[in-house]
Amino acid sequence: MITDKFGRPLQDLRISVIDRCNFRCTYCMPKEIFGRDFAFMPKDQLLSFEEIERLAVIFVELGVKKIRLTGGEPLLRRDLPVLINKLTNIAGLEDIGLTTNGSLLGVMAEKLKNAGLKRVNVSLDALDEATFKSINDSGVGPDRILKGIEKAKKVGLEVKVNMVVKKGMNDNEIVPMARYFKERGVTLRYIEFMDVGQTNGWDFSKVITKKEIFQELSNVFNLEPVDPAYIGEVAKRYRYVGTDSEVGFITSVSESFCSTCTRARIAADGKMYTCLFSGSGFDFRELLRSEKTNDDIKSFIVNIWNNRNDRYSDERTEESAKNKKKIEMSYIGG
Ligand code: GTP
Ligand code: 5AD
Ligand code: SF4
Ligand code: SF4
Repeated sequence: MITDKFGRPLQDLRISVIDRCNFRCTYCMPKEIFGRDFAFMPKDQLLSFEEIERLAVIFVELGVKKIRLTGGEPLLRRDLPVLINKLTNIAGLEDIGLTTNGSLLGVMAEKLKNAGLKRVNVSLDALDEATFKSINDSGVGPDRILKGIEKAKKVGLEVKVNMVVKKGMNDNEIVPMARYFKERGVTLRYIEFMDVGQTNGWDFSKVITKKEIFQELSNVFNLEPVDPAYIGEVAKRYRYVGTDSEVGFITSVSESFCSTCTRARIAADGKMYTCLFSGSGFDFRELLRSEKTNDDIKSFIVNIWNNRNDRYSDERTEESAKNKKKIEMSYIGG
């Protein structure tokens, strides 16, 4: 086990497989910035499946138990089930997840399941057609995502739903979303709007905190806390009393969870980041495409992790954090 400056082990790896997305969520890839002429990565700059697999094996040898594939939109990466199948064969890896916008789940769910995937987290910010369309800014309605979720459940994938809550954007959807997913036994997680990247116009006044959401839910539902499944679980969990349905809260803004953060991230171009709010990363593509051995790469990772001292959510309000350069969400995958 390797640990960082604060004694946090390296246990989770989030791998972005593509920087592109078919949505233009206003809080993530606003069209003014991610327009037609935005320069996404050319294919030869993306890590190949073989390169990702090689890195994953090394990270698992260093203690990683859980890998999550992200994007952009990961289902836009051609032949993604082939990669999933490779990863499921890594000894010692306990869990593989995928975070997706769900627009392609209808066609992909079965292939993902057959490749060995067990669970997916689907982003959906509203059930109301006009609200959802205005958020994703690409003309896709909620029905397509809901059908994708149904399909995923039907083929046996465990599904959770992620809802980013932003004031004035979808706060009137808090209770309708809870009701809908409670009835279907799908865990819904409310995510506080975060100041990721440079382009999403974040402002504290747009954040709706866990406390406010919880209060609103408590007017309608009876919730009881559920113990975390493991130390460092991102979401704080609650159960609707008398049912098996749960909700969760991801409270990066109001209740930081940096002290138990065991996550490393690899962007689609092979750069490793030690925090979602990092300004710069470490180039592994260069190493993978050189003569370096797995042991060389391993010592590189150990060195980076041993020196890690990130705790951005704790530091957010400090003056030094104010003008910090940060990578974009669609590039690093959340
Ligand atoms: P599970 O393994 O199912 O618990 O997934 P997860 O919640 O770890 O991953 P997911 O991709 O569904 O992320 C949900 C939200 O949590 C996204 O908005 C992520 O950006 C956010 N998130 C995940 N890890 C971190 C983290 O280390 N720091 C911060 N600030 N946010 C995180
Ligand atoms: N704040 C919080 N969550 C965000 N996501 C994207 N941008 C933000 C943001 N600024 C969410 C997506 C997805 C997950 C990977 O991150 O909706 O569910
Ligand atoms: Fe929206 Fe996710 Fe695509 Fe960002 S990556 S634009 S949050 S669907
Ligand atoms: Fe981890 Fe950085 Fe998120 Fe804190 S802000 S939990 S250090 S990724």
